[in-house]
Amino acid sequence: MSISNSKKKIAKPTGPLTVFLPGIGAVSTTFIAGVELVRSGLNQPFGSLTQMGVIRLGKRTEKRSPSIKDFVPLASLDDLRFAGWDIFGGTAFDAAKKAGVLNPQDIELTKDFLQSIDLMPAVFEKSYVKRLTPKVVKRAKSKMELVEKLREDIRNAMKNHGSVRGVMVWCGSTEIFIEEGKVHQTLPAFEKGLMKNDRQISPSMIYAYAALKEGIPFANGAPNLTVDIPAMVELAKERGVPIAGKDFKTGQTLLKTVLAPMLKARAIGLNGWFSTNILGNQDGEVLDEPGSFKTKEVSKLSALEYILQPHLYPQLYSDFYHKVRINYYPPRGDNKESWDNIDIFGWLGYPMQIKVNFLCRDSILAAPILLDLVLFMDLAQRASRSGIQEWLSFYFKSPMCAPEIYPEHDLFIQLTKLKNFLRYLMGEELITHLGVEYYEENRSRRK
Ligand SMILES: NC(=O)c1ccc[n+]([C@@H]2O[C@H](COP(=O)([O-])OP(=O)(O)OC[C@H]3O[C@@H](n4cnc5c(N)ncnc54)[C@H](O)[C@@H]3O)[C@@H](O)[C@H]2O)c1
Repeated sequence: MSISNSKKKIAKPTGPLTVFLPGIGAVSTTFIAGVELVRSGLNQPFGSLTQMGVIRLGKRTEKRSPSIKDFVPLASLDDLRFAGWDIFGGTAFDAAKKAGVLNPQDIELTKDFLQSIDLMPAVFEKSYVKRLTPKVVKRAKSKMELVEKLREDIRNAMKNHGSVRGVMVWCGSTEIFIEEGKVHQTLPAFEKGLMKNDRQISPSMIYAYAALKEGIPFANGAPNLTVDIPAMVELAKERGVPIAGKDFKTGQTLLKTVLAPMLKARAIGLNGWFSTNILGNQDGEVLDEPGSFKTKEVSKLSALEYILQPHLYPQLYSDFYHKVRINYYPPRGDNKESWDNIDIFGWLGYPMQIKVNFLCRDSILAAPILLDLVLFMDLAQRASRSGIQEWLSFYFKSPMCAPEIYPEHDLFIQLTKLKNFLRYLMGEELITHLGVEYYEENRSRRK
């Protein structure tokens, strides 16, 4: 199939864009306060590709490298409005203070704005996130009725903000592990399940279904199944809405998806990779529960297998041991520390080791990802893209993709994919990095 390089039709980003956040905890409040600080000119959006990244266009000799936000028509930060749900009530200001990520001065600077965001009562069931005890939740006879309540919330928020566009990103806690079952296979089966309160339908799925029904794109920041099921893909296609997921790729996995491709590129073998973390925020507390940890563990483990392709490199990768641990350690709060011990082997099988110690801040890494996802999902919607947005794999630990292919985990392939997708949308030549033309032209000039 040849790729057309005509510019695709993209509606202009006019008017406010409402960002819907189920779960107003550490990541959400760091994101909202950050957007407010940046648009007030008080700080800078470090870590955000949409705000700070550039994109090369055409040949290297053309020297065209506009910033991404000047190249594609993205919504401006000034146009973002926020709405969210949580189980603790109060406002985004209360939630930001509780999260304890930002320092008191930054929270104070955004106090009025954060206080203007009231948290709506959540759709929540303790059996899906066992470590949390809710204060305010919605009640209804069936999960389908809960969907209707959420849809009403969505419509009201859009009306209050005077917006016709929205994006929802799940920033709620990691739910217990749910295996894909019969109820997830088709839209009619899923809708029947909503009416019959099927246990395999978790709260995050109820939010996602409500969003898609309202024509709102949905991205999943946690490793829960949520939209990664055939029924949701079907609904997204039917409603013409983009979906993406899952699990923000922030700290340890970000490093893993840079280091593992390096090993493979140099045909260096792997005997074992041990990853451990200490984390003291509420997310760490939730992940201390085995059901929620299993969901995260599956997400964190998948990257290496896919990148290293043991079936193609049996001598190098058929037998490596991979272990991931997350330890809840309250004194650290949001300032996670991770250690990786990587046992590798090189020429003639001689063993070597790599040690990585990353002292990061979970929500500081996640907030710019959330911003980029909001802006790119809105762009995708305006460009009439529906269903899975594989070009956004760059942001996820377990990227969603079409059933017949495997997910791409290598960070730099993901970045190339993302940028080529933007070039494709804007009718620019895709960049292959072949570069033979420079040498062929020079040769003919010399003759
Ligand atoms: N920070 C990171 O680096 C990172 C990376 C990848 C994934 N994540 C995921 O992002 C999510 C948010 O992380 P966080 O650090 O902000 O966690 P957090 O615990 O601070 O915030 C999550 C919030 O979701 C709320 N919540 C739970 N279930 C809900 C429901 N059904 N409806 C509405 N609200 C609900 C909780 O009350 C809490 O306030 C987690 O699932 C986490 O695993 C975070």
